[in-house]
Amino acid sequence: MDSKKDFKTPKISFQIPTVTTTTTAANGNDKSNKLQQNRNDLDPRVNKRVMIQSGCSTLGSNVADSDDDKNNNKKKIRNKVRLKPGHSALDWYKLTNEVGIQGKLITGLDSLIKDEDFLKLNNPNAGNFKCFMFGVPTFKLKPYLRFNHKILQKHVSEDDCWTVHNGKVYCMTYYLHFHPGGADILLEEAAGKDCTRLFNEYHPWVNVEKLFETCLIGAYVSEP
Ligand code: HEM
Repeated sequence: MDSKKDFKTPKISFQIPTVTTTTTAANGNDKSNKLQQNRNDLDPRVNKRVMIQSGCSTLGSNVADSDDDKNNNKKKIRNKVRLKPGHSALDWYKLTNEVGIQGKLITGLDSLIKDEDFLKLNNPNAGNFKCFMFGVPTFKLKPYLRFNHKILQKHVSEDDCWTVHNGKVYCMTYYLHFHPGGADILLEEAAGKDCTRLFNEYHPWVNVEKLFETCLIGAYVSEP
């Protein structure tokens, strides 16, 4: 038997589900127009309403899937903010590749030279310190520069904002308005603090090491 001849490509038909639901309200009004209006909000993969928002994953947003979800599973309701144009995840990626790579996504470094707490923790004669003085980006230094809680406390404003995640100190200043959870929550809960626990509570799947690769300032130490 000539298997080539007999082979037939299976017919695969795929149709994006369409909304056909028509409900009639108690007062007799037909609600189908309203459903048609929301057609664009339907995710064809799950046929459920989702909030479309640039720069975010397609995980559900603060629209609960159904009334049951709303009543019984409040954890499903997420609090993403609407990001400003030019602040998508892709825009952040481009910024880190073009600007971050030059060490320009980190604020507050100039003040370190006069910061006694910093000078106590880091030896000015060490190789990494000298490279830092020559302008080598902090994320490239080996070993990393060292920072403690006292130093961190001096970088908690919107235009100079540092945080700690998994023992590493990062600058969040330029990321604040790219954050899908909003700038405010970072300023309130993460600025000048170790945000590891809260971070893991909200989104343990987010890869900080990659996202903040060029925002790395150094290592966090608990020494006074
Ligand atoms: C190291 C700093 C942080 C980075 C790089 C970061 C990054 C991100 C990213 C990429 C998302 C989108 C996640 C997704 O769509 O799957 C997100 C969402 C969010 N983040 Fe953060 N985040 C940080 C810290 C925090 C902290 C400390 C909090 C809370 C105190 C927080 C609260 C939120 C919230 C509420 C959302 C939106 C809703 C959600 O995804 O559940 N983030 N963040």
